[in-house]
Amino acid sequence: MKEYNRNSRIQGFYNLPLEKRRQELIDRGFLTPRDLESFTPTGGLPLETADHMIENVIGTFSLPVGIALNFRVNGTDVLVPMVVEEPSVVAGASFMAKLALAGGGFTASASEPLMIGQLQILDLKDLPAARERLESHKEDLLRDLEDLDPVLKELGGGPRDLEVREIPQSAAGPFLVVHLLLDVRDAMGANAVNTACERLAPAVEKITGGRVHLRILSNLADRRLAAARCTIPPEVLAFEGYSGEEVRDGVIEAWAFADADPYRAATHNKGIMNGIDAVALATGNDWRALEAGAHAYAARDGSYHSLSRWSADSEGNLQGELELPLAAGVVGGATRVHPGAKAALKLMGVESASRLAEIMAAVGLAQNLAALRALATDGIQRGHMRLHARQVAIAAGAEGGQIDTLAERLIRDHAVRVDRAQEILTRWKKDPEK
Ligand code: MEV
Repeated sequence: MKEYNRNSRIQGFYNLPLEKRRQELIDRGFLTPRDLESFTPTGGLPLETADHMIENVIGTFSLPVGIALNFRVNGTDVLVPMVVEEPSVVAGASFMAKLALAGGGFTASASEPLMIGQLQILDLKDLPAARERLESHKEDLLRDLEDLDPVLKELGGGPRDLEVREIPQSAAGPFLVVHLLLDVRDAMGANAVNTACERLAPAVEKITGGRVHLRILSNLADRRLAAARCTIPPEVLAFEGYSGEEVRDGVIEAWAFADADPYRAATHNKGIMNGIDAVALATGNDWRALEAGAHAYAARDGSYHSLSRWSADSEGNLQGELELPLAAGVVGGATRVHPGAKAALKLMGVESASRLAEIMAAVGLAQNLAALRALATDGIQRGHMRLHARQVAIAAGAEGGQIDTLAERLIRDHAVRVDRAQEILTRWKKDPEK
């Protein structure tokens, strides 16, 4: 079998025309031409498949898929597909992943894939007594759920625990909440959890004498966490007029702002989710569930904080850490129905939900650093403008070295527009000196 180079650093990838970038993925054995059809407007999600995914379908809707380069997660290189409409996201993640390589890349971990399902039990006269009865029947209740999903059981998943919480006061009076902890293995798990909660309800009513009202998973998946870390030597952080130490300290101060102020934390965490959502979209995962979980987790102690942490280690390196709930799957839902999602998982070589969560956490951390580094130095607009100008130059037909020269010219002229870029290119063709 042919040996391929699956390194995540592909020199000059961003300067290649689109077709050559696609060829590069084929030449490096990441995808076949057929897989790439899944990322081609005519070869993406077939209308018949779309028609079975949601209601009242009239068509499909495309967004760009970009590839974040330079990612090494737990010692293995990975090309990360990102679906996003915002410029600078893919470039920012790729660039920060390159800086992280200087410290060995990212180390990441994922906890057991435990999802939480909730049951709301109303009309109880004595909460503590009902709670005690439920707790004493815990083993029986869990046993009854064992065979609910034979496939999940076969894969080593299934019910793990029951926890009971008292809500002594609410607009609907006092009630109990049962948390069912279900190991969902490689699925996102919403269907399995909801089914298990519905199955559990009659027995819970019988034991407590109460009325089970809601039966639904919680998106605050705080038993299914993923974490990523990176250590970056200051020398690779230096650029233009900034020393590495200045950039490092600027990033730490920017993080301190987010950690202390919810108004800033919301934007800071949005930047983290720019990366995570883009991978969720590419892999057919429910990004709203991830958003809900991330922001609720950020507020878990009653006030809203940064999901990441940046500090300097004893050797002066910049150290980043991120932890958040990451309920993403590689089986079930759209992940196996959408051809683009299948191709995205193939591209990453991801076969387990835990590996996907680890990669997503690494991307979130890289994305966060990209924003903080820009904000702590030049400000975000300069980088955005540079990238935008490059895209405009490419769209106007610039190639190779022309791209950057034309982009700089457009910025200098305060006219980052395709018509202006074409005008300059035409002039250059006639007279390269102009
Ligand atoms: C923009 O999409 C994301 C940022 O606002 C994140 C941040 O401010 O940290 C740049």
